Amino acid sequence: MPKNYMIGNWKMNQTSEEITSFFSDLKLENNQNNFWIAPQTLHIDKCLALASTTGVLIGSQNCSDQDHGAFTGEVSTDTLMEMGAHFTLVGHSERRAYFQESDAFINSKVAKAIEKGLVPVLCVGETLEEREADKTFDIVLGQVKSGLDSIELNNEAELIVAYEPVWAIGTGKTASPEQAEEVHSKVRDLLVELYGETGKDISILYGGSVKPNNVKELLEKTNINGGLVGGASIKAESFSELCAACSL
Ligand code: PGA
Repeated sequence: MPKNYMIGNWKMNQTSEEITSFFSDLKLENNQNNFWIAPQTLHIDKCLALASTTGVLIGSQNCSDQDHGAFTGEVSTDTLMEMGAHFTLVGHSERRAYFQESDAFINSKVAKAIEKGLVPVLCVGETLEEREADKTFDIVLGQVKSGLDSIELNNEAELIVAYEPVWAIGTGKTASPEQAEEVHSKVRDLLVELYGETGKDISILYGGSVKPNNVKELLEKTNINGGLVGGASIKAESFSELCAACSL
Protein backbone atom coordinates (compact mmCIF):
# COMPACT_ATOMS: atom_id res chain seq x y z
CA MET A 1 0.00 0.00 0.00
CA PRO A 2 1.37 3.47 -0.79
CA LYS A 3 2.00 5.60 2.29
CA ASN A 4 -0.10 8.77 2.77
CA TYR A 5 1.79 12.06 2.97
CA MET A 6 0.86 15.66 3.70
CA ILE A 7 3.46 18.06 2.33
CA GLY A 8 3.35 21.82 2.86
CA ASN A 9 4.92 23.96 0.15
CA TRP A 10 5.44 27.37 1.69
CA LYS A 11 6.75 28.94 -1.52
CA MET A 12 8.21 32.43 -0.93
CA ASN A 13 6.19 33.07 2.24
CA GLN A 14 6.62 33.13 6.03
CA THR A 15 8.75 35.42 8.14
CA SER A 16 11.13 33.98 10.69
CA GLU A 17 8.72 34.99 13.46
CA GLU A 18 5.76 33.33 11.74
CA ILE A 19 7.77 30.12 11.47
CA THR A 20 8.43 30.10 15.21
CA SER A 21 4.69 30.47 15.92
CA PHE A 22 3.82 27.83 13.32
CA PHE A 23 5.89 25.14 15.00
CA SER A 24 4.76 26.06 18.50
CA ASP A 25 1.07 25.96 17.45
CA LEU A 26 1.29 22.75 15.42
CA LYS A 27 -0.73 19.83 16.81
CA LEU A 28 0.09 16.53 15.20
CA GLU A 29 -1.08 13.09 16.11
CA ASN A 30 -0.07 9.79 14.67
CA ASN A 31 2.99 11.16 12.94
CA GLN A 32 4.58 8.41 10.86
CA ASN A 33 7.29 10.61 9.36
CA ASN A 34 4.76 11.48 6.69
CA PHE A 35 4.20 15.19 7.46
CA TRP A 36 6.69 17.27 5.52
CA ILE A 37 7.33 20.97 4.93
CA ALA A 38 9.31 22.79 2.24
CA PRO A 39 10.08 26.31 3.50
CA GLN A 40 12.12 28.93 1.66
CA THR A 41 15.72 27.74 1.31
CA LEU A 42 16.90 30.44 3.72
CA HIS A 43 14.61 29.05 6.42
CA ILE A 44 15.50 25.37 6.10
CA ASP A 45 18.02 25.43 8.95
CA LYS A 46 15.62 27.20 11.31
CA CYS A 47 12.79 24.81 10.40
CA LEU A 48 15.03 21.79 10.97
CA ALA A 49 15.79 23.03 14.47
CA LEU A 50 12.17 23.83 15.33
CA ALA A 51 10.71 20.72 13.68
CA SER A 52 12.91 18.26 15.50
CA THR A 53 10.49 17.93 18.43
CA THR A 54 7.45 17.61 16.13
CA GLY A 55 8.77 14.88 13.85
CA VAL A 56 7.98 16.98 10.77
CA LEU A 57 10.54 16.38 8.04
CA ILE A 58 11.95 19.37 6.19
CA GLY A 59 12.91 19.69 2.56
CA SER A 60 13.69 22.12 -0.21
CA GLN A 61 11.47 23.62 -2.91
CA ASN A 62 14.17 23.12 -5.52
CA CYS A 63 17.66 21.69 -5.99
CA SER A 64 20.55 21.88 -8.40
CA ASP A 65 21.34 19.01 -10.76
CA GLN A 66 25.06 19.70 -10.23
CA ASP A 67 27.38 18.56 -7.43
CA HIS A 68 29.11 21.86 -6.63
CA GLY A 69 31.04 24.67 -8.27
CA ALA A 70 30.30 27.86 -10.15
CA PHE A 71 26.49 27.81 -10.12
CA THR A 72 25.54 31.13 -8.57
CA GLY A 73 22.31 31.06 -6.62
CA GLU A 74 21.77 27.31 -6.82
CA VAL A 75 20.69 24.93 -4.02
CA SER A 76 23.17 22.12 -3.43
CA THR A 77 21.90 18.60 -2.72
CA ASP A 78 25.08 17.85 -0.74
CA THR A 79 24.42 20.83 1.52
CA LEU A 80 20.77 19.88 1.92
CA MET A 81 21.88 16.42 3.05
CA GLU A 82 24.53 17.86 5.33
CA MET A 83 21.91 20.08 7.00
CA GLY A 84 19.53 17.17 7.54
CA ALA A 85 16.92 17.90 4.87
CA HIS A 86 14.89 14.91 3.75
CA PHE A 87 13.41 15.75 0.37
CA THR A 88 13.18 18.24 -2.45
CA LEU A 89 10.34 19.32 -4.70
CA VAL A 90 11.34 19.01 -8.35
CA GLY A 91 9.62 20.52 -11.38
CA HIS A 92 6.92 22.48 -9.57
CA SER A 93 4.76 24.19 -12.20
CA GLU A 94 5.92 27.61 -10.97
CA ARG A 95 9.53 26.54 -11.71
CA ARG A 96 8.49 25.18 -15.10
CA ALA A 97 6.54 28.35 -15.99
CA TYR A 98 8.61 31.18 -14.47
CA PHE A 99 12.09 29.69 -14.68
CA GLN A 100 11.69 27.75 -17.91
CA GLU A 101 12.66 24.42 -16.37
CA SER A 102 12.54 21.76 -19.07
CA ASP A 103 11.63 18.09 -18.65
CA ALA A 104 15.27 17.14 -19.31
CA PHE A 105 16.53 19.52 -16.61
CA ILE A 106 13.91 18.24 -14.18
CA ASN A 107 14.97 14.67 -14.97
CA SER A 108 18.57 15.46 -14.08
CA LYS A 109 17.46 17.01 -10.78
CA VAL A 110 15.44 13.88 -9.95
CA ALA A 111 18.56 11.81 -10.66
CA LYS A 112 20.81 14.05 -8.54
CA ALA A 113 18.39 14.08 -5.60
CA ILE A 114 18.14 10.28 -5.54
CA GLU A 115 21.92 9.88 -5.97
CA LYS A 116 22.46 12.04 -2.88
CA GLY A 117 19.74 10.44 -0.76
CA LEU A 118 17.02 13.10 -0.95
CA VAL A 119 13.49 12.08 -1.91
CA PRO A 120 12.44 13.96 -5.03
CA VAL A 121 8.77 14.97 -5.14
CA LEU A 122 8.28 15.12 -8.91
CA CYS A 123 5.52 17.63 -9.70
CA VAL A 124 3.49 17.32 -12.89
CA GLY A 125 0.29 18.86 -14.21
CA GLU A 126 -1.52 20.34 -17.17
CA THR A 127 -2.59 23.94 -17.80
CA LEU A 128 -6.22 24.91 -18.38
CA GLU A 129 -5.61 25.26 -22.15
CA GLU A 130 -4.11 21.77 -22.25
CA ARG A 131 -7.07 20.32 -20.32
CA GLU A 132 -9.57 22.06 -22.59
CA ALA A 133 -7.71 20.73 -25.64
CA ASP A 134 -8.07 17.20 -24.22
CA LYS A 135 -4.34 16.86 -23.71
CA THR A 136 -4.32 16.19 -19.96
CA PHE A 137 -3.14 12.58 -20.10
CA ASP A 138 -0.55 13.26 -22.81
CA ILE A 139 0.94 16.15 -20.86
CA VAL A 140 0.90 14.56 -17.41
CA LEU A 141 2.11 11.12 -18.49
CA GLY A 142 4.71 12.74 -20.74
CA GLN A 143 6.04 14.78 -17.80
CA VAL A 144 6.18 11.67 -15.57
CA LYS A 145 7.94 9.64 -18.27
CA SER A 146 10.53 12.33 -19.02
CA GLY A 147 11.02 13.19 -15.36
CA LEU A 148 11.78 9.55 -14.62
CA ASP A 149 13.80 8.80 -17.75
CA SER A 150 16.62 6.33 -16.84
CA ILE A 151 15.77 6.64 -13.13
CA GLU A 152 16.13 3.38 -11.24
CA LEU A 153 14.63 2.85 -7.81
CA ASN A 154 15.56 0.47 -5.02
CA ASN A 155 12.23 0.93 -3.29
CA GLU A 156 9.04 2.99 -3.29
CA ALA A 157 10.25 5.35 -0.55
CA GLU A 158 12.83 6.89 -2.92
CA LEU A 159 10.26 8.81 -4.99
CA ILE A 160 6.97 10.70 -4.68
CA VAL A 161 4.94 11.96 -7.61
CA ALA A 162 2.61 14.94 -7.17
CA TYR A 163 -0.17 15.66 -9.67
CA GLU A 164 -0.95 19.37 -9.56
CA PRO A 165 -3.20 20.70 -12.31
CA VAL A 166 -1.86 24.20 -12.97
CA TRP A 167 -5.41 25.63 -13.16
CA ALA A 168 -6.07 24.47 -9.59
CA ILE A 169 -2.95 25.92 -7.95
CA GLY A 170 -3.69 28.93 -5.77
CA THR A 171 -6.99 29.53 -7.57
CA GLY A 172 -9.43 27.99 -5.10
CA LYS A 173 -10.57 25.66 -7.95
CA THR A 174 -9.78 22.14 -6.77
CA ALA A 175 -10.04 19.28 -9.21
CA SER A 176 -12.98 17.13 -8.20
CA PRO A 177 -11.96 13.87 -6.55
CA GLU A 178 -13.14 12.08 -9.73
CA GLN A 179 -11.11 14.35 -12.03
CA ALA A 180 -8.03 13.86 -9.88
CA GLU A 181 -8.47 10.10 -9.54
CA GLU A 182 -8.85 9.74 -13.30
CA VAL A 183 -5.36 11.19 -13.74
CA HIS A 184 -3.85 9.48 -10.69
CA SER A 185 -4.95 6.05 -11.91
CA LYS A 186 -3.21 6.65 -15.26
CA VAL A 187 -0.07 7.78 -13.42
CA ARG A 188 -0.32 4.62 -11.29
CA ASP A 189 -0.48 2.44 -14.44
CA LEU A 190 2.60 4.18 -15.79
CA LEU A 191 4.53 3.75 -12.52
CA VAL A 192 3.68 0.04 -12.55
CA GLU A 193 4.82 -0.18 -16.17
CA LEU A 194 8.11 1.50 -15.23
CA TYR A 195 8.79 -0.07 -11.82
CA GLY A 196 6.67 -3.24 -11.56
CA GLU A 197 5.62 -4.12 -7.99
CA THR A 198 7.47 -1.07 -6.60
CA GLY A 199 5.30 1.13 -8.82
CA LYS A 200 2.19 -0.04 -6.97
CA ASP A 201 3.52 1.44 -3.74
CA ILE A 202 4.91 4.79 -4.91
CA SER A 203 2.82 7.58 -3.37
CA ILE A 204 0.98 9.89 -5.76
CA LEU A 205 -0.09 13.15 -4.10
CA TYR A 206 -2.70 15.60 -5.32
CA GLY A 207 -2.01 19.35 -5.19
CA GLY A 208 -4.05 22.40 -6.14
CA SER A 209 -6.23 24.27 -3.63
CA VAL A 210 -6.32 21.42 -1.12
CA LYS A 211 -8.02 22.68 2.06
CA PRO A 212 -9.23 21.11 5.30
CA ASN A 213 -12.78 21.13 3.89
CA ASN A 214 -12.01 19.18 0.69
CA VAL A 215 -9.10 16.96 1.70
CA LYS A 216 -11.12 14.03 3.02
CA GLU A 217 -13.04 13.36 -0.19
CA LEU A 218 -9.82 13.56 -2.20
CA LEU A 219 -8.01 11.13 0.10
CA GLU A 220 -10.85 8.63 -0.18
CA LYS A 221 -9.81 7.89 -3.75
CA THR A 222 -7.68 4.79 -4.21
CA ASN A 223 -4.77 6.43 -5.99
CA ILE A 224 -4.67 9.72 -4.09
CA ASN A 225 -2.07 9.13 -1.41
CA GLY A 226 -1.90 12.53 0.22
CA GLY A 227 -1.59 16.19 -0.63
CA LEU A 228 0.95 18.78 -1.70
CA VAL A 229 -0.45 21.97 -0.24
CA GLY A 230 0.48 25.62 -0.64
CA GLY A 231 -1.89 28.20 0.85
CA ALA A 232 -3.53 25.93 3.44
CA SER A 233 -0.19 24.72 4.80
CA ILE A 234 0.95 28.11 6.03
CA LYS A 235 -1.15 28.30 9.20
CA ALA A 236 -0.48 25.72 11.90
CA GLU A 237 -4.17 25.12 12.53
CA SER A 238 -5.05 24.25 8.96
CA PHE A 239 -1.86 22.22 8.37
CA SER A 240 -2.64 20.27 11.57
CA GLU A 241 -6.15 19.56 10.26
CA LEU A 242 -4.79 18.40 6.91
CA CYS A 243 -2.35 16.07 8.66
CA ALA A 244 -5.13 14.69 10.85
CA ALA A 245 -7.19 13.88 7.73
CA CYS A 246 -4.15 12.21 6.18
CA SER A 247 -3.74 9.89 9.18
CA LEU A 248 -7.31 8.54 9.03
P1 PGA B 1 -2.13 25.69 -3.38
O1 PGA B 1 -0.66 25.33 -3.95
O2 PGA B 1 -2.46 24.63 -2.35
O3 PGA B 1 -2.00 27.05 -2.79
O4 PGA B 1 -3.07 25.62 -4.54
C1 PGA B 1 -0.28 24.01 -4.20
C2 PGA B 1 1.13 23.95 -4.75
O5 PGA B 1 1.50 24.82 -5.54
O6 PGA B 1 1.91 23.04 -4.39
